[in-house]
Amino acid sequence: MTLSLKPMTTTSFVTEVVNVDLSQPVDAATASALRAAINQHSILVFRGQTIDNDQHVAFSRNFGDLEIHTVKQYLLPDYPEIIALANRGENGTTPIDNGGAYWHTDISYKAKPPMGSLLYSLEVPPEGGDTLYADMYAAYDALSDAMKENLEGLRAVHGYEARFSRMGEGGKRPKLSAEQLAEVPEVTHPIVRTHPESGRKALYVNEGFTLGVEGLPLDEGRDLLDALNAHATQPQFIYAHHWRAGDLVFWDNRATMHCATDYDTRYARTMHRTTIQGDIPV
Ligand SMILES: [Fe+2]
Repeated sequence: MTLSLKPMTTTSFVTEVVNVDLSQPVDAATASALRAAINQHSILVFRGQTIDNDQHVAFSRNFGDLEIHTVKQYLLPDYPEIIALANRGENGTTPIDNGGAYWHTDISYKAKPPMGSLLYSLEVPPEGGDTLYADMYAAYDALSDAMKENLEGLRAVHGYEARFSRMGEGGKRPKLSAEQLAEVPEVTHPIVRTHPESGRKALYVNEGFTLGVEGLPLDEGRDLLDALNAHATQPQFIYAHHWRAGDLVFWDNRATMHCATDYDTRYARTMHRTTIQGDIPV
């Protein structure tokens, strides 16, 4: 069986990948077709999968080395490459519910942010808990020429800790130790990045981790970032993924941002994420 792609949006933004069983090793031709697909489509959806932790990690490694998250209490004890987003906890991980409910791009606060993330759903609530994705290529393309020119050469400041102290995600995230903080100093990235493989330009700011604009007064920088975030989260740029158990969604962090939505925490929700290392944004 060879894989085929079924578009899920009228643009190239999201596509379903069919005829791939992720519990089996993928051959070289399939891996290369999938790498081409993620560069063209930004979000790949695989439905009806049944995979264990080894298979999740093995499949993810087709796309690069895996990131180990700075915050250790969500990592599966025997699989530090896997973050458990589990509202009941799992094998001693700290429970997390309704986390990530703000627009962000995973780990954009690192000098080399991850190229992609693969989120696999084991248990989902019967309603709610969708993940929203924004197409940052389309958001960039829709900017006025004057705004595109304004943004040329501008760099935004990204940080982990400031986001949680500024926006107050309450007790949901543990305070970082001095050692963990040293791992995540604030960094700057271009506001418009050029995708290293597609060559397309994408907006690269996000509500969660972008704190200001290098060289601009704080207020002015924040106003610009707020305007860009408001622009990028307009309905025409958004895809809402409604999760079923057995879905695996692979998204390109270089061209998207995402936002979790709420669900009733009477229901169990268990998701596993692996994260692929990336390059310095240019
Ligand atoms: Fe996320």
